[in-house]
Amino acid sequence: MRHKDINRVALIGTGAVGASYAFGMLNAGLAEELVMIDLNKDKAEGDAMDLSHCLPFVSSRTKIWAGDYNDCKDTNLVVITAGAAQKPGETRLDLVSKNCMIFKGIISAIMEAGFDGIFLIATNPVDILTYVTWKFSGLPKERVIGSGTSLDTARFRYLLGDYFNVDARNIHGYIIGEHGDSELPVWSQTTVGTQPIQRVLKKNQQYSMRELDEIFLNTRDAAYHIIKRKGATYYGIGMGLVRLTKAILKNENSIITVSAYLDGQYGENDLYIGVPAVINRGGIREIVELDLNDLETRQFKNSVEILRKSMESIQL
Ligand code: 2OP
Repeated sequence: MRHKDINRVALIGTGAVGASYAFGMLNAGLAEELVMIDLNKDKAEGDAMDLSHCLPFVSSRTKIWAGDYNDCKDTNLVVITAGAAQKPGETRLDLVSKNCMIFKGIISAIMEAGFDGIFLIATNPVDILTYVTWKFSGLPKERVIGSGTSLDTARFRYLLGDYFNVDARNIHGYIIGEHGDSELPVWSQTTVGTQPIQRVLKKNQQYSMRELDEIFLNTRDAAYHIIKRKGATYYGIGMGLVRLTKAILKNENSIITVSAYLDGQYGENDLYIGVPAVINRGGIREIVELDLNDLETRQFKNSVEILRKSMESIQL
């Protein structure tokens, strides 16, 4: 992989998710250059102009322009948010064939331009499209990353922080598995500060496992609840992608639940799925293998099977 002096990020897809990401990127000041690429060139140009007008208000100096796939040649990171989005009543997995077709074209155009950096994928179903990106691009597995359950983990921590009335950043716990209906909470490894959640429950009668189960359901179904109300989700995932971009460009070695390629970890192979992983400038440095209890192991296997089944329908 080439290490470029200038941090250039290319964003493919300037819909609501892409635009939210770009806005967050400007505020964070993480990249020197941000290229906006969309089939609808007018939209990308309009966004680049509008976003550029933010610059006098913020301290970052990001150069933004509407470009094309050739701009990916000298890019450290390509973030893909393009593709069809869920409509009310649709699951993420329902989008698989449509978005696979779209990805074939996008990935080959980026690779033909000479791209040699890291892919970060957000389009749904994200676990499958990350696998598709890895296959089509031929890049090493650690340089193809999906947003996975990073947003679900954030939703989980937010809701638990609210419930226990502590800063969400002091809630340590993960949602793993498919970014979708079969995901699971790893309760056995969830802590408030350093206190295991089961201990917190034992010590405080006002909290209950029944309410915690509800918190998980609200985490898992958050996208449905939002889509029902406003048609789409975009701020949460946009900020999640900014967080991942920071971990990559700043070489943070941060542990984030991403969609990562399993090569024996968790007893699985040849699959992208949400697991905690150490993220840095090289992409996925390593996957963190949690000690799952029996129930969590069964739930994780179920999620793996659901993803495998859905992948049978696509041609690679
Ligand atoms: C979300 O979870 C729809 O995957 C998107 O917000």
